[in-house]
Formats: sequence, C-alpha cells, structure tokens
Amino acid sequence: MTENLELFPPPEPNGRAQAAIKIIALRKQLNAWAHEYYVQDAPSVPDAEYDRMFRDLQALEAQHPDLVTPDSPTQRVIGAVMDGLAPVRHAVPMLSIRTETDTEASGAEAFDVRIRRELKLTPEDPPVEYIVEPKFDGLAMSLRYEHGKLVQAATRGDGEVGEDVTHNIRTIRQIPLALPADAPPVLEVRGEVYMARADFDALNERQRAQGGKTFVNPRNAAAGAVRQLDSGIAAQRPLSFFAYGLGEVQGAQFATHHAVLQQLKLWGFPVAGQAGLAQGATELIAFHQRIGAARDALPYDIDGVVYKVNSLALQQQLGFVTREPRWAVAHKYPAQEMATRIEAIDVQVGRTGKLTPVARLAPVFVGGVTVTNATLHNLFEIRKKGVRVGDTAIVRRAGDVIPEVVGVVPGQRSSYVPNFRMPAQCPVCGSAVVREKGEANHRCTGGLFCPAQRKEAILHFAARRAMDVEGLGDKLVDQLVDQGVIRMLPDLYRMGLTALIALERMAEKSAQNVLAALEKSKRTTLPRFLFGLGIRHVGEATAKDLARHFGSLDAIMDATVDQLLQVNDVGPVVAEAIHTFFAQPHNREVVEQLRACGVTWEEGAPAERATLPLAGKTVVLTGTLPTLSRDAAKDLLEAAGAKVAGSVSKKTHYVVAGEEAGSKLAKAQELGVPVLDEAGMLALLAAPAPEGQEP
Ligand code: IVH
Repeated sequence: MTENLELFPPPEPNGRAQAAIKIIALRKQLNAWAHEYYVQDAPSVPDAEYDRMFRDLQALEAQHPDLVTPDSPTQRVIGAVMDGLAPVRHAVPMLSIRTETDTEASGAEAFDVRIRRELKLTPEDPPVEYIVEPKFDGLAMSLRYEHGKLVQAATRGDGEVGEDVTHNIRTIRQIPLALPADAPPVLEVRGEVYMARADFDALNERQRAQGGKTFVNPRNAAAGAVRQLDSGIAAQRPLSFFAYGLGEVQGAQFATHHAVLQQLKLWGFPVAGQAGLAQGATELIAFHQRIGAARDALPYDIDGVVYKVNSLALQQQLGFVTREPRWAVAHKYPAQEMATRIEAIDVQVGRTGKLTPVARLAPVFVGGVTVTNATLHNLFEIRKKGVRVGDTAIVRRAGDVIPEVVGVVPGQRSSYVPNFRMPAQCPVCGSAVVREKGEANHRCTGGLFCPAQRKEAILHFAARRAMDVEGLGDKLVDQLVDQGVIRMLPDLYRMGLTALIALERMAEKSAQNVLAALEKSKRTTLPRFLFGLGIRHVGEATAKDLARHFGSLDAIMDATVDQLLQVNDVGPVVAEAIHTFFAQPHNREVVEQLRACGVTWEEGAPAERATLPLAGKTVVLTGTLPTLSRDAAKDLLEAAGAKVAGSVSKKTHYVVAGEEAGSKLAKAQELGVPVLDEAGMLALLAAPAPEGQEP
C-alpha cells in the first residue's frame, strides 16, 4: 500500500495568500502554454501536462471561490444562458472596405493610382508602401480590453452598433483573456472570427453522427456559433481568430500598420503569416498572385486580399468616403461558391459501380470556371441537404476539387416537386441497383458486364500510376467500349490497327502511337499491375505493400484472408476484398489472359520488411532533386521500406530537399528533422539494414 501514497498530491497550501500566489503562477504558466498551443501551433509540453496543471488550478479555485477572476483560463465557458444579445455602440465605428473584383493587375493598379492621386504624388516620387493581408472569410469582431482584461466582444452589426457576444468569444482559446503588463489601459482589437476548414469538417462530421444539422460552409458555422445565447454551445464549435487592426486605443501610439500587427502578435494575438509589406502596385500584384496560389492550401477560407496603406499618418491624411476608408481596398479572388438553378438530377455510374447523383445546373461561373454539373454525392446527402430539381443551389468549387452542391437556398421552391429517388435499375446496363446495409452508396450489381464499370475499369488500368498507357483517354475508351472493340481488359492488347483506325477521329499515326504505348506498358511492375486491376480498397500504397510482402502475384492470389491480414496496413475489409476478388474465376481468367498477352513484371522473394534499410521510417520529399524525378525518388524510398508522406511533422524521420524547397524545408528545420539532399538520400538507401530488428 505504501507506494500508492505518492499518488496523492502533496497537501495544498492552506493559507489564502499562498493560494493566491500559486493561482497566479498556475494561470501564467497555463496561459503561456495555451498561447504556444493555439496561437503559435508549437506546444512545448504534452497535453496531459497542461491538463494536470489545469485541474490543479480548478481545484485551488474551488477551495477559494473568492479568488476566481473572469480572466482565469478556467472561466472561458460561463454557465449562464443569455436572454438576448445586448447592443453595443462601437467607440470607433467598424467600417467596411471597398471591393475590387478586377483582374490582378488592374485591381491593384487602380488602387495605387487612386492613392497616389489623393496624396498628390508625382511619378518621380517613390512607390507607396502598402501592407497586404488575406481577406478572411469569417465575421468581423471587436475585442475591448481595459487594463489588460477582455471586457467586451462585439460583432460589427451596422458598423455603429453591434451585438455583445463576449460570452461566446471568451471560449475561443486563441483570444487572450488577459494581456501582458505593457498593454495600454484601453485597447480595442479588431479582427476576424472564423472556423478552420479541418475544424469545420470535423464539426459537420460530428453533427452528422449525432443526426444534427450540418453547416453549409465555415463562415455560416462560425457566424451561428458567435451568436449563440448559450456559451456552452459556442464552446463546442471550434472557432479561431486573426487580428488585423485596432479600434479605440488609449495610451499607445503606432507609426505604421505593420507595427500594429507586430505589437498585436507580441500581446498574444494570432496574426496571419501571409501578411507582408509591398512597395507600389507591382508588388501588390505579386502578393495577390502569391496568396491566390496558396489559397487552396491554407487551412482556412479567404475570399481575397486586403491592401492597406502602411503609414498611419498617410491613412489619416487619406481619410474616408462615406463608410469606407480611402486607404484600404479588398481585392477579391473568383468566388468559390455561387447560387444557381438545378435543372435536373442525373445518375452516373462509377468504376466500382457506385451510383452518383449529379446536379445539372444552369451554367454558373464559380472558382474561376463555368460549371454545369456538380456532384450530390449520394441519396443520403440529397435528403440531408433537402435538394430538389428546380431549387436554387449553392455550388462550391475550390481548387481542383470537383464542384459540389453544398446546400439549397431555402424558401425558393415555388410549386410541389417530388423528392429525388435512386433508380432501381442501373441507368447504364439495367442491372439491379442495391444499397448495402449501413452504406450510404447505391451500387450497380452488373460488375464488368456494365459498360460504365468496364469503361472506368479500363481507364483505371491504363492510368499513369497504374499501367501508364499514354494516350488512352476517356473519349477513346468510350468509343472502344461502345463499338464493342473492347469487352474485357485483355482485349486492349488484342486490338489491331484496323479496329483503331475505324474509330471516329483516329488517324493512322495516333492509332500507331496508342498501340506502341500499349506495347510499352506490358513491361510493368507488380504494384502497378495490382493497382491497375481496380480491386476495391486496393490503392497504390496497398498494392505496393502487397507486392513487397508476398513478392509474387500467385502468392497474393492464393493468400488466405489471414495471410493477407499480415500485410502492413491491411485490415479485415481490405483483406476480404482482395480475397473475394481473386476467388472469382472470371477475375483469375482476366489475369491469366493479360499474362498471356505478354504483360510481365519482375517478381521477387517475399520481403522481410524490418530488414529493409528504411523500414519504419517516414520520409518527406520537397523541391526538385538534381537527377531523380519525384516519382523515381518515391519508388526508391518505398522499395527500401520507407513510408513517403506529404507533410512534415514531429513523426517525420527525414526530409529530402532539392532546389526550391519551400515551407516543408522550413518546417523540418523548425522541428529539427534531419534534412538530406539527393546524395544524402542515396547514401542512406545504400546503408545496411538497422541492427537489432527482428524480421
Ligand atoms: S480591415 C477599415 N482587414 O472584410 C478597414 N478587414 O468590408 C476595416 N476582413 O467585414 C477592415 N479580412 O471583417 C480588414 N485583413 C482584413 C480583413 C478584413 C477580412 C473583413 C472584415 C469586414 C470586411 C470589410
């Protein structure tokens, strides 16, 4: 029993004074850790350590309720539920900004021309210094601190009068409740409350799991959370904050907006890393392009950039027109969400037989292109979003992601429209459609009998990361299948020049090229071939794992489910899918015929993973290597047992960096991950296997 005694905490200080000192120390440490975690994204202690100290503070405060102050980290969620949101008159109005939607060059130039004219500058005068920030897609917030304590948070409202949302804003961990001692007695920080994309996805996932309503986009989710009457609810909606300006300030002065941002950072506020100084229009344009290129990779939504004159004296001189400052302008990017009418809902059949409902849309310009189709994912999503033909839908297209319908504009339906139903028969081959229990997706049961699945299966087989048949695109495959030239994969290697030339728009030269590409594709690798077969759940990585583990195709085809389960990262669902695939005589037949057509690869002995030099190591590639292509380097690393990952974290063992390596290299240096060049990587690959590891 005795050793258990030390599990009990040492006696707490009884005296009130001692407790007060301890409480202050605990809060200070917890605030510093929270800042590292939430603002700097660089925690220095494990979560458990933070939690333990947090509980210590809670316990002490429970013993001394009179020592609890609103700025204690334990007081972020306050229990009370508001009756309504009280109006708040802003000491300094919250303005809006003029918006430009022009092209990169003309939008920035027009702004610069206007500023120079207002400031009566001549062409001989030096460029005006600007600061460029992302235009965050959230909602504007004013945070008022008095004597270093957060006393009020208010929405923008009409710019003059907003709403008091202090109870909810206190729950945002990135927002300090108390400021360092050098903060002025009155400080209003202006900025944007938003929801990070990953947090938004996780929130929707949770809502879905609980059968609750999902949110259309991060901004709506954030706006809804901010205006909750119950801070307990707001606390469950993960919000974030970026500071970008000041309201009323007493007791501090700044010369430039840049200095404001620097100081805000020092006081503990998150400031966007993308913000930066730009001299004149040329650099504004460059910034607009640079942030635009990074847009889809940012963890949060932005809808443009904001250009601001950096000098606060010049800002003052420029002043305002109506309710917009002359010294700032928002320069938008093409909208990623637009509303348009759903003309019809069609159903497409994919390679795996999955039926995907697709909305046919009145053409709409969104995300920089004209969109006429958008995926509705599955019947479940259609019901959830309440989508019907004739509705006005909100269509989203971000980056290269396929356009999707994220929701409908409510109250626009004029007459009764029946609910969409999934067809009982496959629209392509007429086979029965089923939905497996517990699955959201409907599937065609036709298998390779279904031309849609056949087409997709061929395209997948020929894809670059599979058999890599150059020139075998979807138009050609459509014709080949529709004309009956190809019924099964092996037919690809059996068709002759005549059959190809007989197709529409196929010249002899291109037909020869296709045949040559097919011929070339016959020499392949086992992982490519396996991946190309299109077995459900067998992606590239699994194909590589299988090939490495078993060494030969026959071993894989004859493996039992238990043997398959021995493979790295293969779980019961995947093992079952592989086993079922090779249990079908017609699939084995396809494999045999492909081999008979001359498809070959080198087989090896089953590998002992742990003896490979890089077994268990995670490597990230970045930049351009002097001699090896990205794919070649990846293949080499994987063959040596390494896992090649896309982003750098504490778990990364090596970063291999080439020319023009960017943020991944920086991240590696920051985290102290060893960085290698190509030569270093090759040396590592040549090194003997690590000792002391059992195969
Ligand atoms: S400055 C006087 N900077 O855009 C200028 N606004 O119409 C005050 N916004 O709703 C605004 N990112 O919430 C500024 N980096 C940024 C911004 C930004 C987003 C929002 C702001 C307001 C709207 C301005």
